[in-house]
Amino acid sequence: MNARELREKFIIFFESKGHKILPSSSLIPKDDPSVLLTTAGMQQFKNWFAGNEEPKYHRVATVQKSFRTSDIEEVGDATHNTFFEMLGNFSFGDYFKEDAIKFAYEFVTKELGFKKERIWVSIFEGDDEVPRDDESEAIWRSLGVIDIREFGREDNFWGPTGLEGPCGPTSEIYADDVEIWNLVFNQYYMTQDKSLIPLKLLGVDTGAGFERTLARIQNKESIYDTDLFNPIILAVEKLSGLKYKEDEEKDRIIRIISDHTRSATFLISDGVRPSNVGRGYVLRRVIRRAVRYGRLININDFSSIIRSVVGVYEGVYDLNIQMVYAVFNEEKDKFLKTLDNGLKVFSRELHVQRDGNIFSGKVAFDLFQTYGFPKEMVEEELEKVGIKLNEAEFEDALVKHQEISKAGMSDKFKGGLAGTGEMETKYHTATHLLHQALRQVLGPEVKQAGSNITAERLRFDFTYPQKMTPEEVKTVENLANEKIKENIPVLCATTTVEWAKKTGALGLFDSKYGDKVTVYTIGEFSKEICGGPHVTNTGELGTFKIKKEESSSAGVRRIKAVLE
Ligand code: ALA
Repeated sequence: MNARELREKFIIFFESKGHKILPSSSLIPKDDPSVLLTTAGMQQFKNWFAGNEEPKYHRVATVQKSFRTSDIEEVGDATHNTFFEMLGNFSFGDYFKEDAIKFAYEFVTKELGFKKERIWVSIFEGDDEVPRDDESEAIWRSLGVIDIREFGREDNFWGPTGLEGPCGPTSEIYADDVEIWNLVFNQYYMTQDKSLIPLKLLGVDTGAGFERTLARIQNKESIYDTDLFNPIILAVEKLSGLKYKEDEEKDRIIRIISDHTRSATFLISDGVRPSNVGRGYVLRRVIRRAVRYGRLININDFSSIIRSVVGVYEGVYDLNIQMVYAVFNEEKDKFLKTLDNGLKVFSRELHVQRDGNIFSGKVAFDLFQTYGFPKEMVEEELEKVGIKLNEAEFEDALVKHQEISKAGMSDKFKGGLAGTGEMETKYHTATHLLHQALRQVLGPEVKQAGSNITAERLRFDFTYPQKMTPEEVKTVENLANEKIKENIPVLCATTTVEWAKKTGALGLFDSKYGDKVTVYTIGEFSKEICGGPHVTNTGELGTFKIKKEESSSAGVRRIKAVLE
């Protein structure tokens, strides 16, 4: 069975079970503004599940374009990719566990022909809030399935996407120990403070990873060995002169280039453009990674790879090849310039920043951070002159940076790497705490009038008619420190200006915003539009101290504060 046949089989099967077949939604989510990209089939139906909108249909099935970025560093192994398709059937107040399980099992064993011995399933084991899923267990048993394992929240509870939404216990189907299908029984609405409210309308949300399932059907070790990737890999082989499956390290590079070119093609076709924040940054990263790995195997022109991607999806998705060429190439050229600059700086540093035959790992990391000059390239350059990189020092700097850059981006992607040191990052988050604390203590007429951050301190200007009393200063300081002690996660979401305002985010300098903005949320305490960067958790900030409260100009006060 090939990819097209699998899609068709799925659609025909669920149509025969009374499902309305709907098209995939865009990778840019419409009804889920708190998430960067469409990560699951249910997203376009979030309002139907949540009961905010009357469902147009009660049974739906889709083949959905999806994108997950949390595993990007693992792309290149056998099972991970960024862009993928998801097969899903959905019930909005129609069938629940019994039919969901029966449909899935029938499809997997009868239509896809998986032998029962290859299959095992999982159910939710139960915890303080959500009971054990005895019902699903009984249904599986009635179908003759004996290998039923149970797991907790980590594995067998799904959702919500974004900051809040429908979610519930799951039951999963594994084939040869690879999870192929996730059946979610939407029975709760999780609010932003993580409480579970029972949904009026019970729902089913399922998702079968298309690439993975295809690989299992075709008995291929890897998704990259299926007909979805064959033409793309072939294009990479042709360009590089390499043969796939001859050298593991080279295979990894070939897979990364294939995956990233494919995902860039889809992102661009759905209207994403490279930038330093949000989904634009995801696109920028996949293109830059493709270019960077491309250089390692002498690929500079990606046109034929892009063409192969478009060919694979001909008649399935509309991919805008001219636009993909244009956007991809422009970003590639920008990146190559960046690399050139990095190379110049590197050459300058080469003879300064070294200890005997060891090049400073910290400088190598800075080169990466500031110029996007990758470690692999530093190593290559060093190899030419017989010098080694101080790996331990590099790793050290990387780990430190990752702790910061995880900051807020729900999917570990961070906008703008350059010039965002550890302390600056902390001060950005501290500024949000200060801003909200001032509003709470002095009143909502407090408005940000300016902000300036260095590695040493923050400076915050705000509208307020008179000098603050020492007690007020102390109360603001204490409030910020309280929030730091509460270890509140700092969440980040890209959304429209409109939505941000509607949901009460503090917005400043309106005229500067584009269509999309990034909103940082610190628990219930603060919600503010900001370009970041931010820490992941307020607990990382240390102790907040106001050093000075003074007049800045008429009606504007200025606070200088530090973190200790
Ligand atoms: N929404 C569920 C998932 O993505 C089915 O796994």
